[in-house]
Amino acid sequence: MKILITGSSGFIGFHLTKSLLENNHKVYGYDSMNNYYDIKLKKARLNILKKFNNFKFTKANIENEKKLNKVFKKFKPKIVIHLAAQAGVRYSIDKPRVYLKSNITGTFNIIEASHKIKVKHLIMASSSSVYGANKKIPFKEIDKTESQLSIYAATKKANESMAHSYSNIWKVPITMLRFFTVYGPWGRPDMALFKFTKGILNNKKIDIYNKGKMYRDFTYIDDVINGIKLLINKKPNNKKLKKYNKDSLSPVAPFRILNIGNTKKVFLLNFIKQIEKELGKKGIRNYMPLQKGDVKQTLSDTNLLKKITGYNPKTDYKSGIKKFINWYKNYYRIS
Ligand SMILES: NC(=O)c1ccc[n+]([C@@H]2O[C@H](COP(=O)([O-])OP(=O)(O)OC[C@H]3O[C@@H](n4cnc5c(N)ncnc54)[C@H](O)[C@@H]3O)[C@@H](O)[C@H]2O)c1
Repeated sequence: MKILITGSSGFIGFHLTKSLLENNHKVYGYDSMNNYYDIKLKKARLNILKKFNNFKFTKANIENEKKLNKVFKKFKPKIVIHLAAQAGVRYSIDKPRVYLKSNITGTFNIIEASHKIKVKHLIMASSSSVYGANKKIPFKEIDKTESQLSIYAATKKANESMAHSYSNIWKVPITMLRFFTVYGPWGRPDMALFKFTKGILNNKKIDIYNKGKMYRDFTYIDDVINGIKLLINKKPNNKKLKKYNKDSLSPVAPFRILNIGNTKKVFLLNFIKQIEKELGKKGIRNYMPLQKGDVKQTLSDTNLLKKITGYNPKTDYKSGIKKFINWYKNYYRIS
């Protein structure tokens, strides 16, 4: 099958692209290769993907309508998986406009291009951060999401609304995936596991927000990739979905929102202890107040995804941390 993946040099995009290429799908990667974090990591991921004959790639921004449309017209993907975005809650405090360009204008271009060539299924990344200051856990798709705490989260919520409107007017089949703190090998240097590991190994202070009194539903990359792959051929279909959960359905459009998480909340200080245990070394802790825009806890309810696909996350945080650290040491040649 022909599948176009935006953000293919990113953390999730790389793993997904590689896995689909291994299954002999034809994958077109589209990524700006921006320098939000270490470009070498993105290049190394891309070099692995380029070894596959069934991989094509364009380096460009999704805001660039011309280039994007050219790729869509030429490749004619059946499935589009849109993962390119300016990610990160903290960076959105200082650079809000970057988020508007990438996440609002760019995502609009993807929806419009997908509609024009009538893709079979458009899957797009949203985020658990849309649940914002919600107190009730676990977070369910039918919960109200009216209190985003950062511009990053607000752009993801806007993406969900934009997607629903296009799905309503043009009947574009769209699934929005709310990811919950994805981690694992080739992970993002701006995220907790990478930062803590690097800091501890280099004897640098590690910043721990809200003094570590936070909970996260850490989701291992392989579980996420498995979940996305199970969904590809299951486009939203109003009639079929009704029996699963009528409340989370759009009454008018082939549209749905699904959580994809590990369904366990992990106390941040326990997460750090486990990293220290694996590294055999204590970190120098720098306890900080809660970062503006951050949420204190996340926990997913993934029953809807399970009912549709049989999704069943398998990796607990202890074995996930171990796999990440093995990769990290190998990649950075640390003995
Ligand atoms: N990793 C997580 O825990 C997590 C959680 C919630 C949501 N998400 C969402 O999942 C998606 C993938 O996240 P990730 O962790 O792989 O992030 P990532 O930053 O590693 O990957 C994003 C990729 O998109 C590319 N990109 C960014 N802006 C672009 C633009 N304007 N045009 C073209 N390419 C652009 C980047 O170069 C990067 O390679 C994002 O939409 C993110 O918001 C991720």
